[in-house]
Amino acid sequence: MCGISGIVSYKNVSKRLVKSLSNLEYRGYDSCGVAYLRNGQIEIRKDIGTISEVEARERLSDPVSCIGIAHTRWATHGGVTKANAHPHLSYHQNFVIIHNGIISNFRELREELSKQGYEFKSDTDSEIVAQLLEYHYEQTKDVEQALVDTIHRLEGSYAFATITPYDPERIYCTRHESPLLIGVGPDSQYIGSDLNAFIEYTKNLITLSDGEYAILDKDGYVIKNAMTGREAQREITHISWDAEISKKGGYPHFMLKEIHEEPQVVHTVMQLESEKIAKLAEMINEAKRVYLTGMGTAYYVTVIAQYYLAQLTGKFYNTLCADEFENVGEFDEDTLVIAVSQSGETYDTLSALRCAKNRGAKTAAVVNMLGSTMSHDVDHVIMQGSGSEICVLSTKAALAQVVALIRTGIELGSHFSPDQAEEFDQRRREILQTPQYIQQILDELSGIIRLIANKIYHITNWLFLGRGIYYAVSLEGALKLKEVTYHHAESMTGGFMKHGTISLIDSQMGSVFFVPPETEKKLHTDTMSNVEEIKARGGFVLGVHSGPFNPLFDQQIILPDAPPFIMPLLHIAASHLLAYFVAVKLRRNIDKPRSLAKSVTVP
Ligand code: G6P
Repeated sequence: MCGISGIVSYKNVSKRLVKSLSNLEYRGYDSCGVAYLRNGQIEIRKDIGTISEVEARERLSDPVSCIGIAHTRWATHGGVTKANAHPHLSYHQNFVIIHNGIISNFRELREELSKQGYEFKSDTDSEIVAQLLEYHYEQTKDVEQALVDTIHRLEGSYAFATITPYDPERIYCTRHESPLLIGVGPDSQYIGSDLNAFIEYTKNLITLSDGEYAILDKDGYVIKNAMTGREAQREITHISWDAEISKKGGYPHFMLKEIHEEPQVVHTVMQLESEKIAKLAEMINEAKRVYLTGMGTAYYVTVIAQYYLAQLTGKFYNTLCADEFENVGEFDEDTLVIAVSQSGETYDTLSALRCAKNRGAKTAAVVNMLGSTMSHDVDHVIMQGSGSEICVLSTKAALAQVVALIRTGIELGSHFSPDQAEEFDQRRREILQTPQYIQQILDELSGIIRLIANKIYHITNWLFLGRGIYYAVSLEGALKLKEVTYHHAESMTGGFMKHGTISLIDSQMGSVFFVPPETEKKLHTDTMSNVEEIKARGGFVLGVHSGPFNPLFDQQIILPDAPPFIMPLLHIAASHLLAYFVAVKLRRNIDKPRSLAKSVTVP
C-alpha cells in the first residue's frame, strides 16, 4: 500500500533516499515525505503530490544527513493533506515515524494520550505510533524499550520505522502483518516495504517476520523477537534480479515495457525447476479439497487456470476470491489452498491463507516478489521469477502465473493419465512456442491495436464476453481496461449476457468478444451466435480472434493462428495491449492509475 524506505550510512543518504522513494511510488502516490536527523534535530519535509512534484517544491533531497526515513502514501485514515502525509512527529518532537498498515485501536490510544496532554496534528492512525514511542521513552529513557512497549500496545497491521535524536545513528523498525525488508550493504543499511526500495544499492536481503523488530546502524543490524527479547539469526538472501529491470528502458511507460517482457517471463517460467512444479502437483493430488485464490488480476489468473486444470486433469478445482474465503470456504487438514499473488503482500490473500492454516489446511503460492510475506509463510512456494513489475497493473506477472499453473496441470495430468504421455509432451512443446507467438503480436499487431484504440476510446461502457476459458480471459481483459482507462467494463459469459444484460445493448455500448479458434467448434459457434445477437441490436463489436477477416465485427484484432491450447495466452497479451493503447489515447496516468496501489496491504 504505502511505501516505506530508510537508510543509515557512512555517507549522505538524501539522494539515495528520494531515489528509493521514487522506486516505491507505485505503492501509493497521494503524498510523500522524508525525515532526517541533522545536528541532533529532526528535519521533516513533506507535502501532497507525486514525489517529483514534492521534490521540486520541498527539495526533499537537499539536506545532508547520514540517516533518514521516507514514505509515499496511499490514504486510508485521513484525507490527502500535508498534515496527514508521513513522516509524523511526536508531540515533543523527539520521535519521527513512517508507517504502513492500519492501527485498529488508534482511537482508544489517542484518547488515552490526549488525557496525558499529547496533542495530535493529523487525522491518521499512524501518528499514534510516534506519540506512543515518546510516551514510553519518557517512562524508561530507553529507545529500544520504548519500541518494545509501543509494539505491545498496538493492534492491527503495521510496519513502521523511527529515528530519534536520543539515538541518532540508528533506525528502529518493526512489522506485524505488513511487509518490511532489510537491505544489507557494506557501508549502509536499508529498510524497504519491498525490495525495489534498495535493489539499486544492495542485493542482500533479509525479511523481517511478524513480531520482530530490527535496529540498524551503518555497520549492520540486529533482529529481535518483540515478545521474548531474544536475538534472531537470519540468513541473507541474495537477489539475482538486475536493477535495470526496475527502469523504463526506453519505453514510455512501465506497462508497455512489462507487456514487452511477456515472451521472456513465459520462457522463464518454463525453465523453473521441475521439482517445484512436481511438488505442487503432488500436494494437489494428495488433498481432498483444493482452492485457488487471489485478488484482482491474480484471482482472474486462478479462474483461467481453473479451465486449464479442468482440461488437463478432467477435475474441477475451486476458485474463490480471497476476501470471501472466510465467509464460505470449507477447510480442514485435507484441504490445500493455492494462492496467486504478484506482490506476495496482498492483505486479503494473506488473510485467506492464515485462515486456512489456522484450520489445519496446507498452503502453497505462486508469487513474484522475493522476500515477500507470502513466499515465507506458505508450505510450498513457486517463485515465478518474472522480475520487478513496476506498473500498478499486473501484466507480465499474471501471464507467467497462468503458465506456472498450466505446468502444474500438465504434471498432474501426466500423473493421472500416464498413457497420454505423448499428448502432454505436445502441450509442453506448445507452451514453449508461446513466447514466439506473443512476440509476433507485439511486433506485428501493436500498430493495429493502437489504431483500433484510437477509434474506440470514446466508448465508455463495455461488455467483455467469451465462453469457456475465453470467458476467464475476458474477466482479466475487462479488469485491465477498467483499471487503466476508468471506463466501465463488465465481463460475463456469452450465455449469461442473454439473461438480462442484453437489455443494455445499443449503439453506445461496446462489446469485446474473445473468440475461440474454429477448431473448438461448439465454443466458436456459440460465441459467434452471441456476436450476432449483439449486432442485431445495433451494438458495436470488437472481435479478438484468429480466423479470417470477418465483416460481422466492427473492429477486429486478428491473432496469429497458434495451437488452440495456447490461444488464450495470446488473447491475454492482446487484451493488455488494448487496455494500454486506449489509456494512452485518453492520456491516463498509466503506470499509476487513480485510487489504485500495487499491493493492497489493508482490509
Ligand atoms: C491490487 C492491484 C491489482 C492487483 C491486486 C492483486 O488491487 O491494483 O492490479 O491485481 O492488487 O495483487 P497481487 O500483488 O496479490 O497480485
